[in-house]
Amino acid sequence: MSYTVITGASAGIGSEFAKQLAETGQDLILVARRKDKLEELAKTLQAEQGINVVCFAVDLADPKGSEILATEISTNNLAINGLINNAGFGDRGGFIDLPLERQMQMIQLNVTTLVELTHRLAPNMRQQVKPFIINVASTAAFQAGPNMAIYYATKAFVLSFSEALHEELRPQGIAVSALCPGPTLSEFAEQANITDSNLFKAGAMTSAEVAKQALANRNSAIVVTGIKNQVGVLFGKVSPRFMTRKIAGWLQA
Ligand SMILES: NC(=O)c1ccc[n+]([C@@H]2O[C@H](COP(=O)([O-])OP(=O)(O)OC[C@H]3O[C@@H](n4cnc5c(N)ncnc54)[C@H](OP(=O)(O)O)[C@@H]3O)[C@@H](O)[C@H]2O)c1
Repeated sequence: MSYTVITGASAGIGSEFAKQLAETGQDLILVARRKDKLEELAKTLQAEQGINVVCFAVDLADPKGSEILATEISTNNLAINGLINNAGFGDRGGFIDLPLERQMQMIQLNVTTLVELTHRLAPNMRQQVKPFIINVASTAAFQAGPNMAIYYATKAFVLSFSEALHEELRPQGIAVSALCPGPTLSEFAEQANITDSNLFKAGAMTSAEVAKQALANRNSAIVVTGIKNQVGVLFGKVSPRFMTRKIAGWLQA
């Protein structure tokens, strides 16, 4: 029996990953802070799909978060065949206006914990059948983002890190993918205070569609979800950086 770990499984894209993997019979480890939400989802998936689900309520923005989770996994002798580093958050506002503590928590959750969990769990995944890691980046990864400077920078890190691991771990049998969604319907926009932004006013994909595209393309190094976002990323690649960062700033307004 082997489990796929999904961080940020209590809402949005993470809970959709859980539902769609459960439909394939995959056993799951669900992680987030809200234990009640995780247990409610676990109960449904166990009843409807007959899979095994283990829930760990851990604050992954705490510097000890990844160690606490990895210890729980090893003391319970749970074998891991998949890791979806999905938990993350953003916040709109000027860098010097937003509280430093919140921005450091963002770096801890979006970057440091993601790296630590990958380092702690990947070695034992090599013994599993078709092991995979999906790191959730964003289309924000492709350019700088004035008024969400730290969020965009964390996602640029996730993209670069995941692309490198895609090459490093492929010979060892682990597929690593960077998922780059554009605006997506979930709790994210409200948490990040961007529900009224030009970005979200232009339309958003569903979390279910994002998770579906990510799982179907998990062997690809980079997965940009939806045609509109793919065109946007392509446009960014052929445009000068002064232009892409100005457009990103306008999209957050
Ligand atoms: N929605 C978008 O437009 C969009 C676009 C591009 C990329 N993304 C990325 O997609 C990922 C998932 O976001 P989403 O859209 O599904 O957002 P969401 O609905 O807000 O879900 C975020 C998940 O992360 C968990 N989480 C937040 N802080 C945590 C912490 N300190 N410790 C443990 N878990 C924590 C939340 O659970 P608890 O609150 O229960 O802890 C929740 O399950 C994020 O990495 C985000 O940056 C989202």
